[in-house]
Amino acid sequence: MSPEQTSGGFMGQTPQFEASTNGAEETEAFRATMADDVAAISQALDTLCPDEGLIEDRLPQAMRYALGGGGKRVRGLLALQTARAYGVGRERGLRLACALEALHAYSLIHDDLPAMDNAETRRGRPTLHVLHDEATAVLAGDALQALAFEILADPQTAAQAEVRAELCLGLACASGYKGMCGGQMLDMIAESEPGFDRMTTRRLQARKTGALIAFAVESGAILGQASVEERQALRRYADRIGLCFQITDDLLDAQADEATLGKPSGQDEAKGKATFITHYGLVGAQAKAQDLAREAKLCLAPLSIETHFLLHMADFVFERDH
Ligand code: IPE
Ligand code: IPE
Ligand code: MG
Ligand code: MG
Ligand code: MG
Repeated sequence: MSPEQTSGGFMGQTPQFEASTNGAEETEAFRATMADDVAAISQALDTLCPDEGLIEDRLPQAMRYALGGGGKRVRGLLALQTARAYGVGRERGLRLACALEALHAYSLIHDDLPAMDNAETRRGRPTLHVLHDEATAVLAGDALQALAFEILADPQTAAQAEVRAELCLGLACASGYKGMCGGQMLDMIAESEPGFDRMTTRRLQARKTGALIAFAVESGAILGQASVEERQALRRYADRIGLCFQITDDLLDAQADEATLGKPSGQDEAKGKATFITHYGLVGAQAKAQDLAREAKLCLAPLSIETHFLLHMADFVFERDH
């Protein structure tokens, strides 16, 4: 491991005692919970963009298209299950999950635009700008971003005004220039200025993908009004799975085919993008992703809550095939 990846490095102290997933039965239960939650999140998202029979309904229809199509719902699941662990009711938890997935769907629409990655497929279907046009795709992305904040600012999500404000602030930081957009800017610069060093590549990854995934976990703790200590431990877990998630995305981009991924593959190398593979090679990047998933699980050990789902999510993020 490099110095920035070791315990007590840039991500803070990793507890040394073991926490692990075990047993086929437990894995089976995790998969069943995941399938139920994915279906519930998808159903809730579908109802958020109502069709009123108006000419401008092309917009909610486009939003609904981008929200659908079989996303893994990783951010929504993390938010929902963390909130549940801290005693948040199902309805409020699902609203939180929808806010995260709406923000994520917006980031994907814009990421796929010709001005950015110029991708023609997403989740195994034509991208929104291919299906409609670029203007509709830009507007649907904008509207999904606004929808995410609308959901968080609604008392149906959290009764307490301070909790709603903290959720909005957190999502703004995770998605704006300090987070996803800042990372996407670095990603665009990486195309024309190759040769980013390891720390810059890590910052790129942490911002473009890690920040929103980390906030997904933290948002459940905010809604459940968890203690500062619990939130810090969760943050250490979330930072690691966030980085692990983008490394596996890059590994899949390099190794999987478009049919499996549901989106174009081989894009990073074709565009000369700096990824962990550029710095560590395929085997090294794979090892790093595995270390991060293992470390993430260790970070859950001090928590007071039931952590089975989060433990399994760390494995899922590393082992996923799309
Ligand atoms: C893809 O995210 C974009 C990245 C941040 C790497 P996901 O792999 O979570 O995409 P969906 O939501 O499952 O389609
Ligand atoms: C995009 O990263 C991350 C976002 C903020 C959407 P990628 O460009 O690698 O994501 P994919 O591979 O298109 O899903
Ligand atoms: Mg991109
Ligand atoms: Mg892309
Ligand atoms: Mg990618």
